[in-house]
Amino acid sequence: MSAGLPEELHGLKSWTPDPTELADLELLLAGAFRPLSGFLGSLDTAAVVAGGRLADGTPWPSPVLLSAPDELAGEPRLILQDPEGVPLAVLRVTEAWRDASLPEGRVRLAGPLTPLRRPAYGAFHRLRRTPAELEITPGRDGRLLAVATREPLHRKQLGQLRQEAERLGAPALVLALLSGAHEQELVRALLAVAKDLPEGSRVVPVNLAPRPGGREPELRAHVAAAYGATHLLTSVPLSGEAPLAVVAPEPWAYDLDVEVWRPVARIEEDHVRAELSPEELGELLDQGAPIPEWFTPPAVAVELRRARPPRHERGVTVFFTGLSGSGKSTVARGLADALVENGGRTVSLLDGDVVRQMLSSGLTFSKSDRDLNIRRIGYVAAEITRHGGLAICAPIAPYAATRAEVRRMVEAVGDFVLVHVATPLEECERRDRKGLYAKARAGLIPEFTGISDPYEAPEDADLVLDTTGLSTGEAVEAVLKLLTAGGWVR
Ligand code: ADX
Repeated sequence: MSAGLPEELHGLKSWTPDPTELADLELLLAGAFRPLSGFLGSLDTAAVVAGGRLADGTPWPSPVLLSAPDELAGEPRLILQDPEGVPLAVLRVTEAWRDASLPEGRVRLAGPLTPLRRPAYGAFHRLRRTPAELEITPGRDGRLLAVATREPLHRKQLGQLRQEAERLGAPALVLALLSGAHEQELVRALLAVAKDLPEGSRVVPVNLAPRPGGREPELRAHVAAAYGATHLLTSVPLSGEAPLAVVAPEPWAYDLDVEVWRPVARIEEDHVRAELSPEELGELLDQGAPIPEWFTPPAVAVELRRARPPRHERGVTVFFTGLSGSGKSTVARGLADALVENGGRTVSLLDGDVVRQMLSSGLTFSKSDRDLNIRRIGYVAAEITRHGGLAICAPIAPYAATRAEVRRMVEAVGDFVLVHVATPLEECERRDRKGLYAKARAGLIPEFTGISDPYEAPEDADLVLDTTGLSTGEAVEAVLKLLTAGGWVR
């Protein structure tokens, strides 16, 4: 174990940034966002957004920002820590500012960072070199050709990269951009083809968080330059001035005649085989069909399959939502039984009332406790899904935003199917199996869903079931049909 925090830091408050901010923090500390040394303030941010430059004129493509709760705005120094509470850096706050995109109660914090210690864990930790730690010998005239990718290199991209590296007389630096999901598969897929790259090439995982609409291609170029690359291979044209030479790959295709990938210019027109589109590839993976060898090496195909297993082996959460007494639990239990009888799937049932006794005992029915209850269910369901299981959840889950949060958590690791058990309130109240509606009407149960508390009906349900006049068998059959049609169940 390394020593604890230095004494002088004991009085500082700590804050855990969100995953994107933590990724940016890692790159700032590593020197991969050179020349930045900390999170941006209001002037730099305005200048970057307006003209792709910092306030002092240095080219920089994209804001790198940190947000925190208002309460921390007055702190001169803050410890930034990871979600496990490991202190990563000290932020000296030079500015606390607001921008229009921030929610109420939040503030941006800017300032330089002092590294504390790097977490000594994380998959492929050994490979995650900083620019200063990267051992790579440049090629002719000091050249180093980078490619920064969130996708494996298939035969075409591999051929293009090799061609360009050979033309430049440079080794390749493959920056594996981590995105949160399927990181290990990406790194393994890239390592699997590294042997086909020029002597001395390297694969380095880099925690560059995706930023939708946020000039990522330009940011990739800056990160590659910080790693010492002189050239970047990319087919995306960059706006603004690039910090290194940008090379577009020559168009390649598969030549049916000689059965190799090569520059289109060298192939007779009627020998060009159409490329596998991402949709076609996804379709093959969903069905568990073989991935053709002409498209990608078998070792890469293995990783593609791990990242996107065939539907019938992929983890999935079936999430029932609906009023108390709507029939959620009954249908969910019937579904679990049917799936167990059918075999081929491991099933975990997270029923609302059972969860309330186990995971969520002690929670009330206030909005915040209900949200916490649903998040716990979502967390467990996502773990089950990650491991290829089938999770069935059946809470009321009255709030759309919380259901959406669960959907996001689950979809990061597998599939999510939402079933709205839309039995009308009158029918639920008529059934009143537990006698709760009568008590709620009599004012004995406060905040009762449907009576004195809201239920936000979903607009994103994959199936809507009204169990009025429907037998349990019929309702279960409808859900099974959906799961079979989607390929999750055979
Ligand atoms: S949720 O809102 O947090 O999703 P959950 O599904 O766990 O609710 O629990 C709902 C069950 O708790 C109902 O089926 C009912 O038996 C019981 N219950 C007790 N008090 C309430 C209440 N105020 N509102 C709704 N259900 C309640």
